[in-house]
Amino acid sequence: MASAGEPFAALTCYDATTARWLERAGVHVLLVGDTAAEMVLGYSRTIDMPLDVLIALTAGVKRGAPSTVVMADMPFLSYHTTDDAALKNAGRFLTEGLADIVKLEADASFAPLVSRMTRAGIPVCAHVGTRPQQVALTGGYVSTGKTPKQAAQIVADAVALEQAGAVLLLIEAVPDAVTAEVLQATTVPLIGIGAGSAPHGQVLVLQDVLGLTDNPPPFARPIAQLGASIQSAAENFMQLVSNRRIGTRSDPAVQSPQSAGSASTGARPSTN
Ligand code: KIV
Repeated sequence: MASAGEPFAALTCYDATTARWLERAGVHVLLVGDTAAEMVLGYSRTIDMPLDVLIALTAGVKRGAPSTVVMADMPFLSYHTTDDAALKNAGRFLTEGLADIVKLEADASFAPLVSRMTRAGIPVCAHVGTRPQQVALTGGYVSTGKTPKQAAQIVADAVALEQAGAVLLLIEAVPDAVTAEVLQATTVPLIGIGAGSAPHGQVLVLQDVLGLTDNPPPFARPIAQLGASIQSAAENFMQLVSNRRIGTRSDPAVQSPQSAGSASTGARPSTN
């Protein structure tokens, strides 16, 4: 799609059920991001994401969306200690996690690691620009690329990581001009988040798009209000329970249109 000039769409996803619906919608890439730390586990920073949990979530997403490209984030410290450990952890995302590609937040100093992963047969997406795993160092989620020096560094990082074998680049929260320079200097597809509309693909955190987060970033306008829908469905459910209308088989309130689907749609077996 990138070479045809057709923008592609990526969304984060952390579970099989949601993955099934996103695959039905035709979303091109599902990213099992370390934002699962915030969206699933309730932490305030992505660096709290446990490796084993993210691998398990990745496998769930791929089982829910077997025909969609699933990209897994390598969490904080899963690729920083030794290259051997990094390679092993990346491999686990492909074998246990069923991922198609791993993503790591990187600058040019990670080029030898990316090269080693590539030699081992692991497709890598290099995440450049603002890198949320640096949060403890930067004192918060601070965007970068605003000074000429930072901009030049981001372009150099992207070039070095592509040369090392990265098959995909992701750029986060940089000025549009920096994105334009990266696009000029590299040849692999570039996914953007808060980096302007020029990248080949765009990714957003699903919960922001669906209106489930209270304070989405300015570049992630909600395009649905599922938070309010969930709240209202839960309130309706409570009303039905209090009216003793839940628990019987004949009540239309418990018969959803989707529950009549086949096994491949994720319908659960019913007990007779
Ligand atoms: O972890 C994540 O969800 C990400 C996106 C925000 C790009 O890396």
